[in-house]
Amino acid sequence: LNTVAFLSPVQAQLQLVEARLHAQADERHPDLRAALEQILAAGGKRIRPTLGLLIGDMLGSPADRLVTLGAAVELLHTATLVHDDLIDGSLLRRGTPTLNARWSPAATVLTGDFLFARAAKLAAETGDLPLMELFAETLAVIVSGELNQMFSARGVIDRDSYYSRIHAKTASLFEMTSRAAAMISPAGDSAVESMRVFGYETGMAFQIVDDILDFTGEQASMGKPIGSDLLSGLVTLPAIYYAEMAPNDPDIQALSEGGWANQEKMGRLVESIRRTNAVQLAMQEAASHVDRAVGVLQRFKSNTERDALENLARFIVDRKV
Ligand code: IPE
Ligand code: IPE
Ligand code: MG
Ligand code: MG
Repeated sequence: LNTVAFLSPVQAQLQLVEARLHAQADERHPDLRAALEQILAAGGKRIRPTLGLLIGDMLGSPADRLVTLGAAVELLHTATLVHDDLIDGSLLRRGTPTLNARWSPAATVLTGDFLFARAAKLAAETGDLPLMELFAETLAVIVSGELNQMFSARGVIDRDSYYSRIHAKTASLFEMTSRAAAMISPAGDSAVESMRVFGYETGMAFQIVDDILDFTGEQASMGKPIGSDLLSGLVTLPAIYYAEMAPNDPDIQALSEGGWANQEKMGRLVESIRRTNAVQLAMQEAASHVDRAVGVLQRFKSNTERDALENLARFIVDRKV
């Protein structure tokens, strides 16, 4: 499965989203403008705008508002990444050096703020008040999720907090995009609710796979550092499955007592996790989210967009990027 299977129906609209994004880099400050242009030129999968465009096209939403929504969502996502890479001390994103690798923390924070401001302006340009409320509320969910992650003890193995964390940081934005694209269509409340569920399920799957790729992925294709979650005390689904099957592994027991900071212990733990079927179990869980997402689509009549949404959902568990 490749990305053409879901990109082709919205290729032209995605180019309009791209132009709309670049228009936001139209800043008088030359350093800021150069930084924004570089961030946008580095690309990214643009999966969130694609999701919104396919859903909106399927349900008959006005094309111009879908493009505006797509640009707003992608810019909000980009702003969270600029701040996230500073917070995480990450030096590589989308295959290029992050802003914080080149600039001071202060300049990086301000650039992220500028992106948030432009994202909010784009959301307002949809002219839809409920959409703006949803947009603001989703940003609040993402930020409070990040704060929870920051203030909770590191190295703790807890399924429930894992699920609420991945909902906050990733699924909430997929959910918002899907719901908003349906909200501006003539389809009724039950279609909006179906699309919200579709976004939720694909978003949960997307983050579980992102967490798996931290164990199994290649930095070259992912364009960001791999193998960093455990070392920063972040316990994700493959490690949770492993802890359930090997509770007496001393490296697991060390995790919550500061062992996460130990390179040698964590390197060994990653190897142990890879040797078991913990990664496959996590992948099965992602696949069951995808199955639920695809199930939601069955109530809509088959057409180009619906089939592309199904391909997009299936791509999530197939992806290497
Ligand atoms: C990265 O998102 C952050 C996560 C929520 C996992 P993407 O994997 O969509 O990043 P880009 O936009 O393609 O770079
Ligand atoms: C991504 O979180 C940032 C948000 C969605 C807020 P992570 O720190 O887990 O993701 P990567 O690995 O840097 O993309
Ligand atoms: Mg982070
Ligand atoms: Mg990060």
